[in-house]
Amino acid sequence: MKLGVNIDHIATLRQVRGTTYPDTLEAAKICAKAGAVSITVHLREDRRHIQDSDVYRLSRECPLPINLEMANAEEIVKIALDVKPAEVCLVPEKRQELTTEGGLDVAGNFQALEKTVKQLQDNGSDVSLFIEPDEKIIEASAKTGARVIELHTGSFCNATDPQKAEALLKKLITGAEQAHSLGLQVNAGHGINLNNLPGILTVPHLDTLNIGHSIIARAVFCGLEAAVREMIFSMKK
Ligand code: PXP
Repeated sequence: MKLGVNIDHIATLRQVRGTTYPDTLEAAKICAKAGAVSITVHLREDRRHIQDSDVYRLSRECPLPINLEMANAEEIVKIALDVKPAEVCLVPEKRQELTTEGGLDVAGNFQALEKTVKQLQDNGSDVSLFIEPDEKIIEASAKTGARVIELHTGSFCNATDPQKAEALLKKLITGAEQAHSLGLQVNAGHGINLNNLPGILTVPHLDTLNIGHSIIARAVFCGLEAAVREMIFSMKK
């Protein structure tokens, strides 16, 4: 299982003060040195953290493949077509949310998603759909032609009631099995930290975990390289 690091909150620290630091490229290089396999950046429509210039500069100079997380919005799709990141992760996006809430409604937006998936994959980017572990949604995701899904782990990761957490983990396990049997690569992400990681590690067929907030938070105390190494070490246990 591999680790992709989401560096949005490196940019958050920069944007809250309008400074030039901390530098997203420097962060990406440290993640690479520590053993991460990819760098995720979410170019939000409101540009609250990652800016267009981050995406272009990272795509030119980052030593790791870029996973561009984004809404299926015309303006952002144009940028993705121009940048040609190794992977694009399509997510639902609401202006007021703190972070991505819930997965894509793939059935409800099937035609628009199918069109974007084709456009981006024909352009050389693998497309991943960020979805809840729901049978119908997984089925619809495979039908869009996307090669990858990212299972939304947020509900499990944030659950405080152990019985609820167990039920949510079962859904992730069943979802991963179904997606794998449909030939999809299975990634997972959202809310993963060192405490809930052991549960996540029981989910089969996981290729890459995309983790951001908990690593950047940990980096405040021990440095980014150590925080990434610590997560990779814990993933291998
Ligand atoms: N994957 C997706 C699709 C996300 O939207 C996010 C949050 O931006 C993450 C992974 C990383 O989540 P976290 O920052 O909670 O680790």
